[in-house]
Amino acid sequence: MRTVKVGIIGCGMIANGKHMPSLAKAGNVEMVAFCDLIEERAQEAAERYGVPDALVVTDYKQLLAVEEIEVVHVLTPNVSHAVISINAMEAGKHVMCEKPMAKTGAEAKAMYEAHLKTGKKLTVGYQNRSRAQAQLLKKMIENDELGEIYFAKAVAVRRRGVPTWGEFLDKEKQGGGPMIDIGTHSLDLILWLMNNYEPESVVGSVFQKLKDTENAANEWGSWDPKQFEVEDSAFGYVKFKNGAVVSIETSWALNIAKPEGSYLCGTKGGADFNGGLRINGERDGSLYLNVIDVDPNAREHFRGEHMSDFEYEAKQWIGSIVNNTEPLVKPKEAMVVSAILEAVYISAETGKPVYFD
Ligand SMILES: NC(=O)c1ccc[n+]([C@@H]2O[C@H](COP(=O)([O-])OP(=O)(O)OC[C@H]3O[C@@H](n4cnc5c(N)ncnc54)[C@H](O)[C@@H]3O)[C@@H](O)[C@H]2O)c1
Repeated sequence: MRTVKVGIIGCGMIANGKHMPSLAKAGNVEMVAFCDLIEERAQEAAERYGVPDALVVTDYKQLLAVEEIEVVHVLTPNVSHAVISINAMEAGKHVMCEKPMAKTGAEAKAMYEAHLKTGKKLTVGYQNRSRAQAQLLKKMIENDELGEIYFAKAVAVRRRGVPTWGEFLDKEKQGGGPMIDIGTHSLDLILWLMNNYEPESVVGSVFQKLKDTENAANEWGSWDPKQFEVEDSAFGYVKFKNGAVVSIETSWALNIAKPEGSYLCGTKGGADFNGGLRINGERDGSLYLNVIDVDPNAREHFRGEHMSDFEYEAKQWIGSIVNNTEPLVKPKEAMVVSAILEAVYISAETGKPVYFD
């Protein structure tokens, strides 16, 4: 396989936690340029993951001007996903952008249009689709093993899990709180499994009920209530054109003892991810619950090679460039996710449902 030259824009948590180590393992990738507003971050990343003479810059446009770079990973806060990704595609680069695709539905649409206009590939970092369990369930659903899926719950509920690094509490930079930050993952996974991208209407509510707690117990340390501008929990109800409904439940802070996970309900069976991939149904007069113990790392597309969801995401993405195939996460799908998330916020603000054309 030929080598793909990659530039990294934004060298913070997700760059270091997911993209750079996974690209380093993908085998046919060279990270040739690194950009961050904080120069030391780009420098450190270059030293750890870059080719010996890797470029280090603080202005992403300098990185985009490098001809040999074929692929750019956009790993900055939500506010700059659209502008950087669009500039990158117009500069002739394929783009992997972190989730959510953009801060608003309009920005996500502009990114999709830039992808169509330039012919450059665009994908979004929804790595939960790369989990082995999710991949297997997708196949089962394609084989009609659940029948018609008419109800699902997209759950991303944390009892206390407020991200206190970066810009997550900043409404202007992120666009919102848990709904746009982690609800986006759950909704993406559910829509992909249902293969339903035709929403009809959305109602939503957002809350700021716990954010003013001083010295709060929290997975990443207490937050500063004065900086907490976004919601601490949010809920949405989506109706689709084919009559199906999806409930979205998401929180960074909620008084709930043991949050349940997402699930799907079909005419032939249901599925959830509680303690493995579980399939429930009725057969010959009995109710059954099968727990499928999926090897989380075995990957049939790569000859059973073992790899994490992060590594699978990177390898599938780079493979789509080299082989000119579709990335796992298609931009039109991610655009619909962004439109629904925004509709939750609009409905919460106006107190009215949002209808899609
Ligand atoms: N896939 C996931 O599960 C997952 C997890 C965490 C974060 N994310 C997403 O990744 C993105 C970044 O989050 P993070 O946790 O890495 O934040 P972070 O603050 O740790 O890192 C962001 C980096 O981008 C840099 N930056 C900001 N604007 C820039 C610009 N215009 N040009 C160059 N560099 C710029 C910052 O200096 C910072 O180093 C967010 O959109 C977030 O939603 C995804």
